[in-house]
Amino acid sequence: MKHLVIKAFGDADQLVLTESTVNALASNEVRIKVEYAGVNPVDAKTRAGLGWGAEAIKDQLPWTPGLEVMGIVEETGSEVSIHHAGDRVCGLLAGGGYSEVVVAPANALLRVPRAVSNEMAAGVSLAGITALQALTEHGCLLANERVLISAAAGGVGHLAVQLAKDIGASVVALASPNNHEFLRGLEADEVIDYQDEAQLAALAPADLLLDLVGGESALGLLSHLKPNGRVVTVPTITAEQVVAAAKAAGLTATGMLKHNDTQQLSLLLDAVAEQRLHVEVSHVYPLAEGAKAHRQVETGHTRGKILLKN
Ligand SMILES: NC(=O)c1ccc[n+]([C@@H]2O[C@H](COP(=O)([O-])OP(=O)(O)OC[C@H]3O[C@@H](n4cnc5c(N)ncnc54)[C@H](OP(=O)(O)O)[C@@H]3O)[C@@H](O)[C@H]2O)c1
Repeated sequence: MKHLVIKAFGDADQLVLTESTVNALASNEVRIKVEYAGVNPVDAKTRAGLGWGAEAIKDQLPWTPGLEVMGIVEETGSEVSIHHAGDRVCGLLAGGGYSEVVVAPANALLRVPRAVSNEMAAGVSLAGITALQALTEHGCLLANERVLISAAAGGVGHLAVQLAKDIGASVVALASPNNHEFLRGLEADEVIDYQDEAQLAALAPADLLLDLVGGESALGLLSHLKPNGRVVTVPTITAEQVVAAAKAAGLTATGMLKHNDTQQLSLLLDAVAEQRLHVEVSHVYPLAEGAKAHRQVETGHTRGKILLKN
């Protein structure tokens, strides 16, 4: 099978299409023919040698990125009863998704409901679980609260906007003007250009900041919270700095690292099936063009999700 491999940390050209044999199947695993793999900022940061992702795999090179896939089960291990050959499945992996075929623990994957397209199933796992955990487990968002979401048009952000509306919150979405109509279509209550100082200055304070940009952006948004406001900062590289500044300003603040939760993924897939949650897929690249996909994610201005397709 063909897969994209990095042999060393570096730029997008480190991603090289390579032919390898498929790993043997353990009794609790399934082998999946990958239809689509999600491309996430963490993949590009890890490839570049940055953050927790690079730290975790630095002794495992050559390495294949890819933390979420959608595909068709080809074969199941001897103890697997929840999936069968031919099932459409999706979910989070520890890596290896940028491939024609991947072997994964059966219990990490869910069957994709009939009403959910392959593309939406491929794009919902990582960003959807992150958005849900950020708003609920970490942000404790309540109905009638006001939540400020930065990078609202991105992979995590556009799902967070919809999930926050579903909770009953009032959503203030920060994005470039070319994404404003898109975000109004997702029912954001207020849409603000984050580069427009006058619009930012006129903002009423929020209960919760869902920070999806980190660093200077997050620090600048702390003043837009109520005195007892809460901050969830999602980019891990600047989390310590943002949490410290928020706490110094008297706010409650936390960083986070998403964890796999198939019950939550099941809720997200149901919401997609019932058309209560839309997964925007803006770019689909053939597997061989993984480097182009990484260059796109590294622009920092992708709307919704990027996928690789076999
Ligand atoms: N801790 C975790 O478990 C976890 C999980 C998932 C993601 N993450 C991290 O969370 C961050 C967001 O992930 P993602 O997948 O949503 O990223 P993404 O899809 O690449 O985000 C792209 C969006 O960022 C917006 N943006 C760029 N600069 C901005 C700024 N200064 N202010 C407001 N918006 C800005 C862009 O909006 P415009 O084009 O409108 O400018 C674009 O729509 C990444 O750092 C990622 O690594 C962490």
